[in-house]
Amino acid sequence: MALLSIREVCRRAPVIPVIVIDDLDKAVPLAEALVAGGLPALEVTLRTRVALQAIRAIADAVEGAVVGVGTLRTADDVKASIDAGARFGVSPGFTDAVIDAAEAEGLSMLPGVATPSEAMRAADRGFEILKFFPAEANGGVPVLKAWASPLAGLQFCPTGGVNEKNAKDYLNLSNVICVGGSWVTPKDVIEIGDWARVANLASDASGLQTL
Ligand code: 3PG
Repeated sequence: MALLSIREVCRRAPVIPVIVIDDLDKAVPLAEALVAGGLPALEVTLRTRVALQAIRAIADAVEGAVVGVGTLRTADDVKASIDAGARFGVSPGFTDAVIDAAEAEGLSMLPGVATPSEAMRAADRGFEILKFFPAEANGGVPVLKAWASPLAGLQFCPTGGVNEKNAKDYLNLSNVICVGGSWVTPKDVIEIGDWARVANLASDASGLQTL
């Protein structure tokens, strides 16, 4: 698979769906519905027993999908995810262990930050695009607005509490490149396998325009 920068990943669509997959059989149809709805960059979180297998299944079978891994917390997570076919990585935080492993393995990373100091540390290591996590709990839109001038040059993918109601407010900020969220992959909708509903949610999300 071709290497992809995190900027390229974030530019594929305004929203990166955050996926929690419990049933491996649901991984491919779910990813197909998201891609059909216009959201090709997918974050499969390492929070379930089948997450790595789900990444492998999507990478092998879903044309047009750019599958990434989320909830990266250790260097071992990074290695296992690359072996499974992940093309980018997302982490709730910013640690040397995860960043060193990703750099060594060539995995594009979207690490999480919640303060200016963390953002500055990440910038020191060459990152220009960061996840702001958890976005709503950390002050949301007003915080990112306040960061725009002092942290000029950094762009953010707010995630955590972002939904169909507030996504546009985030996307209208000058320092937001895309948002992440699970509202396009509701647990109950996945459980009943309503892929048309997922495609509709994805289509609405992919239509979110920035100013
Ligand atoms: C997460 O890690 O669960 C993501 O931040 C998604 O958050 P959300 O469920 O609030 O969209």
